[in-house]
Amino acid sequence: YEIEIVTGVQTCALPIFALLRLARGRAMSSAPMTVAVLPGDGIGPEVMDVAVKVLNHAGGLFGKSFKFNHAPVGGAAFDASGDHFPQSTRQACMDSEAILYGSVGGPVSEQHLPKWKDAEKNAVLGIRKAFDLAVNVRPATVYPTLAHASPLRSEIVDKGVDMVIIRELLGGLYFGEHKTEGDKATDVCEYSADQIRRPLEFAFTAAKQRRGRLTVVDKANVLDTSRLWRRVANEMAAQHPEVELEFMYVDNAAMQLIKAPSHFDVICTENLFGDILSDAASVLPGSLGLMPSASLGSSKYMYEPSGGSAPDLTGLDVANPVAQILCTAMMLRYTFALPEMAAAIETAVSSTLAAGICTADIAPPGAQPCGTKAFGDAVCKQLSETHA
Ligand code: IPM
Ligand code: MG
Repeated sequence: YEIEIVTGVQTCALPIFALLRLARGRAMSSAPMTVAVLPGDGIGPEVMDVAVKVLNHAGGLFGKSFKFNHAPVGGAAFDASGDHFPQSTRQACMDSEAILYGSVGGPVSEQHLPKWKDAEKNAVLGIRKAFDLAVNVRPATVYPTLAHASPLRSEIVDKGVDMVIIRELLGGLYFGEHKTEGDKATDVCEYSADQIRRPLEFAFTAAKQRRGRLTVVDKANVLDTSRLWRRVANEMAAQHPEVELEFMYVDNAAMQLIKAPSHFDVICTENLFGDILSDAASVLPGSLGLMPSASLGSSKYMYEPSGGSAPDLTGLDVANPVAQILCTAMMLRYTFALPEMAAAIETAVSSTLAAGICTADIAPPGAQPCGTKAFGDAVCKQLSETHA
């Protein structure tokens, strides 16, 4: 997912692009980069420790330093303060240039307890709203060396799977009115043209810098909001003649993701469709632990793994830290405009995987898996060897 979104966007007035341009200036500064670190629950803290270690190690090699503002979120925060996204955590985020998020949530059997009830929703929707995180970016790439781990047959995966899903994050059914009156419940799906333009602008730019295809996913045969998405996308297409724009119904898109994933380059869609499709796409690489994601807002961005808190794996040193490590690379690229340092981390991760060093979730049959910490150490070693 080599998207160099920072370049080439000179005239766009959208806050996201303004921020990305500002990041270029930030890259020249020698002041420590401030990062809010919210490890959360389950495997969050373990994979976050590894990611922060890799980031510090890369910083040493590239002459960059960080100031981390640690803060609890989710169940961990509830234990401390009775709130899944407390004011002190919000403040830590406000005081930082970027937010590194782990994962939130507890075991299924404990979901009814106040500690876990709505923990994910309160924490993650709270942060999205608080920081106006309107555009979510989730890549799904099958590493050729890990093709064995993909649930798809090799003749499908061998064609190459490398897509990025851009999801609108603050509209649609998630943030419309919700109400229940006796046996009747209502959730309102609402979009304005301005809301739709934000993810689409990013998606057109991403497509231009990648393979040039943008698939807008909707349900325009049924929904008015989808027809508005089509209208706005068609209007914007005139300014992006180099992008091949296509529309696809969401049910068909779900099918094509499995049948012909190599078809996709950039997918852009509304909130709920994006939630569902990005989960489907996230298993194509072979493990939920492989892909990072970014949520882009008007004042700062948040980076989190696409997978969850995996309570059953907690504390066993078996969780895959790749997604969390790649979050730091995404952060270096988007918030701090340090694409070389980002690429160094990404290359170190893929070289480590290519050398057969991997956690149990993706280890080839018969191979000896390594632990969470050992994987991080191997990435650091790889970084030192290439960038000493
Ligand atoms: C995600 C999650 C969240 C969402 C939940 C936890 C509210 O599934 O980030 O995809 O639906 O957006
Ligand atoms: Mg989801």
